Amino acid sequence: MAKQQISLTVNGKAVDALVEPRTLLIHFLREDLSLTGPHIGCETSHCGACTVDLDGKSVKSCTVFAVQANGSEVTTIEGIAAADGALHALQEGFREMHGLQCGFCTPGMITRAYRLLQENPKPIEAEIRMGISGNLCRCTGYQNIVKAIQYAAAKLAGVPFEEAAE
Ligand code: FES
Ligand code: FES
Repeated sequence: MAKQQISLTVNGKAVDALVEPRTLLIHFLREDLSLTGPHIGCETSHCGACTVDLDGKSVKSCTVFAVQANGSEVTTIEGIAAADGALHALQEGFREMHGLQCGFCTPGMITRAYRLLQENPKPIEAEIRMGISGNLCRCTGYQNIVKAIQYAAAKLAGVPFEEAAE
C-alpha cells in the first residue's frame, strides 16, 4: 500500500514520517518513534491503556490512524514530565498515593488525568471517577488513583492536599 507523508509534533518535537494509511497511531508511536509508554491492551477502544493527548483532547490511539494525526500535536506519557526530568504533579501523586500496582494502565491513566485537570482543575471525586471512566485498571480498585489525581489537583492549585476519610 502506498505510504503517505505525515508531519506532526510529538512531545514538542517535529516529526516527519512516511506511514501506510492503515497504520494506527499507537503502532506509529510505539514502533516508529519508540515511544512505548502508551500501551496496547485491547485494541478495541475499551481499556484506555493507549490514551494520548491529541490537539488538547484525550484519544485512544488504537482507534486513530496515524494519518489522522497529520498536522497535530500529540503528547504521550513521555512528554508529561518537565524537560529537566522533574516529575509532573500527577506522576508524583501516583507515586505518593500508591496509585499503581502492575503499572500497565498507568501511562494512559496519567495522560487522561493530565487532560482532565486542564478541562476541570478542581474536580470533585465524582468528576474524577467520570473523567477516568474510559480507562480501566485491573489492579488498584481505583481508590488510590482518585487520591493521586486529587493530590495533583491540589499541588497544581498550590493548596495543601487533604486526604478524604474513607
Ligand atoms: S488498547 Fe486502545 S483502548 Fe485498549
Ligand atoms: S495498576 Fe495494574 S492495571 Fe492498573
